Amino acid sequence: MSREIIAAVARGAAEPFTIERLTLATPRAGEVVVRLVASGICQSDLTAKHNFPAELPIVLGHETAGVVEQLGSEVTGIEVGDHVLVTYASCGNCRRCDAGLPGYCDHWVRLNGGRYGANSPLTTTDGQPVVGGFFGQSSFATHLVASARSVVVVDQDLDLTLIAAFGCGVQTGAGAVVNVLQPESDSAVAIFGVGGVGISAVMAARALGVSTVIAVDLSADRLHVAGELGATTLIDGAADDVATQIRAATGDGTTHALDTTGIDTVVATAIESLAPRGTLAVVGLGEPVIPIEVAKLIGLGKTVRGSIEGDADPHRFLPQLIDWYRTGKLPMDRIIRRYPLEAINAAVADCARGEVIKSVLTFAEL
Ligand SMILES: NC(=O)c1ccc[n+]([C@@H]2O[C@H](COP(=O)([O-])OP(=O)(O)OC[C@H]3O[C@@H](n4cnc5c(N)ncnc54)[C@H](O)[C@@H]3O)[C@@H](O)[C@H]2O)c1
Ligand SMILES: [Zn+2]
Ligand SMILES: [Zn+2]
Repeated sequence: MSREIIAAVARGAAEPFTIERLTLATPRAGEVVVRLVASGICQSDLTAKHNFPAELPIVLGHETAGVVEQLGSEVTGIEVGDHVLVTYASCGNCRRCDAGLPGYCDHWVRLNGGRYGANSPLTTTDGQPVVGGFFGQSSFATHLVASARSVVVVDQDLDLTLIAAFGCGVQTGAGAVVNVLQPESDSAVAIFGVGGVGISAVMAARALGVSTVIAVDLSADRLHVAGELGATTLIDGAADDVATQIRAATGDGTTHALDTTGIDTVVATAIESLAPRGTLAVVGLGEPVIPIEVAKLIGLGKTVRGSIEGDADPHRFLPQLIDWYRTGKLPMDRIIRRYPLEAINAAVADCARGEVIKSVLTFAEL
């Protein structure tokens, strides 16, 4: 049976989210209904709000933590009452899913780009279509349906508000370091942008014992937190000599770097400040287009590569992140601030000002 839920709906690219009653469809075969306890807000939610005006109204959100409330048919290994994280969707049957790289699933766009019209699990209470299934979730809502394959069951003693962001932002930043860049203790790693993704990369680099961790951001508040969490050099991204400062801190340049800004000039600086044989991973979803001096890439053996969701297999990586969290390597309490769902617009604004690194929505039980 369908159920009535409360959601923060995006109805216009520049309009604030509106809190509305919607109808959520019953789970299909292989799906579960999750009652939200917490949802992180990722910059990708806001980018989607601004870039897909033709597809509004939509319920965004894709960093789910909650409790399983209902099972569709053919679901195994998950019980009603389980505490869960939900991450992006993947098919589980294609070549890269089989290889443990579901971020590059052949069906990624179809499964994560939202469900439209009659295919959406969401409607207004008078039957008008609302786009749902964003990243296989749409978590700015009291309940959602998700594929059982996207669900990771977690221990019941964990504070779900602290680990909600593991499903995207933390997985992406930490995974880019652990799975993609794989620095060593004597490496020099620069993280460009220390929002939710970049700060997770800083924490991961420290957890791996990397000796030089450089954080670059425009926000003094965010840089301050990065320093507290282990960044050894803090650089104001507005300075006109960022690459020079990085060289001064490293001698040779960075062995590894991560761009989370998606800004062309920042990506160019990140490439320029790599040491010979250094690698830059890019995850920021702007639309930077940059000329690359191929001869320099060749002569200095540099690598530039992209990454989705930290190249992680969530069923293996989210439990690893929880272990790190339990042993104090991911002090999430230092980077999150909680907001009730109704305060979503304030949560977005505080984050945009740099006052908060990761805003987390919380849900009172109905
Ligand atoms: N590839 C993926 O799988 C994936 C997953 C999650 C998020 N993302 C993307 O990653 C990016 C980061 O996400 P987030 O939630 O951390 O966003 P965020 O907005 O919290 O962080 C971006 C940071 O970059 C900083 N910044 C802006 N201009 C800068 C400059 N010139 N120099 C240095 N720093 C600068 C901002 O101050 C901010 O702190 C977004 O584009 C998001 O869409 C990608
Ligand atoms: Zn995200
Ligand atoms: Zn697949």
